[in-house]
Amino acid sequence: MSIEMPLENASLAQLQQTPIDNVIDIIDQGLVHLPSYRELFYRWERQQWRAEEINFSADRAQWEQMGAEERQDRLYGLSAFFKGEACVTDTLGPYISAMPDEEMRIFLTTQLADEARHTVFFARFFKEVLGIDKTRLEDTLTEIQQYMNKQLQYILIDSLSDVAERIRQEPTNLAHLVEGVTLYHVIVEGTMALAGQRAILEFYRQNNLFPAFRGGFTAVARDESRHVVFGVKFLREMIQRDAVHARIVKAAIDKYAPVALAALTPEDEYIPNILAMQVDPWVSPRYALDSLRKKIKVIGLSLELPVVPSPPVF
Ligand SMILES: [Fe+2]
Ligand SMILES: [Fe+2]
Repeated sequence: MSIEMPLENASLAQLQQTPIDNVIDIIDQGLVHLPSYRELFYRWERQQWRAEEINFSADRAQWEQMGAEERQDRLYGLSAFFKGEACVTDTLGPYISAMPDEEMRIFLTTQLADEARHTVFFARFFKEVLGIDKTRLEDTLTEIQQYMNKQLQYILIDSLSDVAERIRQEPTNLAHLVEGVTLYHVIVEGTMALAGQRAILEFYRQNNLFPAFRGGFTAVARDESRHVVFGVKFLREMIQRDAVHARIVKAAIDKYAPVALAALTPEDEYIPNILAMQVDPWVSPRYALDSLRKKIKVIGLSLELPVVPSPPVF
């Protein structure tokens, strides 16, 4: 597949061959010319894929050849995504009913279906490739939580459900909704997930790992591009309607962004070893910070953001 091929209607097999940066570019293009909510809905109609149709047998064969240490590494990277997809599926409901405009509500129903599909995609991969399946999905998700660091747990489990509960209790209080979209669409999807997804897909592509997973996960990234553009557009409009909302977005970024960046940074004790291997430990948090900066600019704010170390010279 040539790089010029439009991603618009690419199949899973084609997405498997698509570098993740091409998919992330869709977000940047969307930020330059913000599409309407209806256009985002139509994109969703054109970009359907099926979690059911993926054949994971080649991925399974690779997993069976891996040693214990490599298996641990794969589990740490992927568990946060599996759990994260379940968390966003569980918490989006209150956002839908609280949205002030009908076009916003219509788009968010498509996102809810996407997040459910992403969760099912991961459930299949964990069961059929990694061999982790506790029968009830809830029990499988509890099992894999041990592979998430405390910052990931704070953002994906505690904070997402806390804000969703406040939106559910006071759906007409737009302050909760604005904070919620900042956390969900900008911090979780547009900052953390984007950086984590890029790191995983690039590493897998370079090492020719888990080919079927790559196809599905790239389709997930294409879905996320619509969600992130929705979130940025929504916040920009909310601030244009009432400048008070700017303070709420700012407070939410101040509160959640440092934790999100820390979640992507290796623990202090591992950093000397990583540097000794001539690997940059701050690639993902730096990428995340750049992603966040782009979104904040389009939302229409200028904020002071946390600092991530520059790339070391080896
Ligand atoms: Fe998702
Ligand atoms: Fe999403």
